[in-house]
Amino acid sequence: MQGGGFYNRNSGLQAANLGSALPLLVAAAGNIAPDAPMIGIADYGASQGRNSMAPMAAAIDALRPRIGPDCPIMISHVDLPSNDFASLFTLLDEDPASYLAGRAEVYPVAIGRSHYGQVLPSGSVDLGWSSNALHWMSRNPCAVPDHGWGVFSADAAVRDAVDAQLDADWTNFLIARSHEMRRGGQLICQFMGRGEDTHGFEWMAGAFWQSWVDVANAGFVTHAELGRISAPSAGRSVAQIEAPFRDGRVSGLKLVDVAVVPTPDPYWDAYQLSGDVVQLGQMWANMMRAANGPSFAAALDDGRDRSLVLDAVTARLAERIMADPQQNRSYNIIVAITAAD
Ligand SMILES: C[S@@+](CC[C@H](N)C(=O)[O-])C[C@H]1O[C@@H](n2cnc3c(N)ncnc32)[C@H](O)[C@@H]1O
Repeated sequence: MQGGGFYNRNSGLQAANLGSALPLLVAAAGNIAPDAPMIGIADYGASQGRNSMAPMAAAIDALRPRIGPDCPIMISHVDLPSNDFASLFTLLDEDPASYLAGRAEVYPVAIGRSHYGQVLPSGSVDLGWSSNALHWMSRNPCAVPDHGWGVFSADAAVRDAVDAQLDADWTNFLIARSHEMRRGGQLICQFMGRGEDTHGFEWMAGAFWQSWVDVANAGFVTHAELGRISAPSAGRSVAQIEAPFRDGRVSGLKLVDVAVVPTPDPYWDAYQLSGDVVQLGQMWANMMRAANGPSFAAALDDGRDRSLVLDAVTARLAERIMADPQQNRSYNIIVAITAAD
């Protein structure tokens, strides 16, 4: 994610996405056995924290009446070492929306390690949460010369390699959580899904990629740099979520529920009210830059002015959206898991 709090300021779409999983998080918090000396909550893929405030506040408020006022709650925000944790902790200290405001005995900590391995002590997590993060793969499985996302490549071998990586990452995520979660612990995850016939992100992924092609054609970057770009993200189907449970690769966890739901589009809703197509273009373009700019720009030559290139891509994407405004039709996966015997 783009640092300096930029993702925090441009992630309204992700905030809307996670809303559909919040009732499950509150229900899961209500299932936690209230007999532990301390409650451990883990927030996997926290980023800069803006979108963790509401879910963590909801989880604390659901737990507190059951565990009593003195039981400490430790909230571990997990993200990659490169994450802008400074924005997260500044928000926690200074923002009125901080989940610390008005809530006692809550202790946030940061873990700068990949959630595809175990990052917390065995049996220490009562409640796990992950929003808008698990469609990010641990790596790019192969080169993708014809698109910014392998899942949209015309080459079936590339798409198969993406699916194999998604499967390995999801399995590793589950195995790590099976160690970390206390028996009876609950885990709720929301991330990008895919539909039966379409992936669902075609319109915006295509517009972003074409904006990079435009910028290459205008001479901002070379076509060799363009060919190296590949964002390690893709949505999963219900069958892909179920696979490691079905074939016994994961033990100690039970898949309670999984659903694919259409994503909200708060940018389109705002446009319907305002008719402001410039705002629609800017909101989408800034969000795409915040979420995908760094992984695209990582492919550029050393010494390339990445900000200048991202400015050009962002402006081009906004123009494309203004010229052809559409409602986004993507999918969210929502998963509920418990740590069983
Ligand atoms: C789109 S942001 C989501 C942030 C926030 N949870 C939300 O709902 O808006 C995805 C986050 O997942 C993080 N992430 C990606 N791969 C990860 C990994 N292997 N381990 C931990 N975090 C990861 C990224 O660094 C990024 O901060």
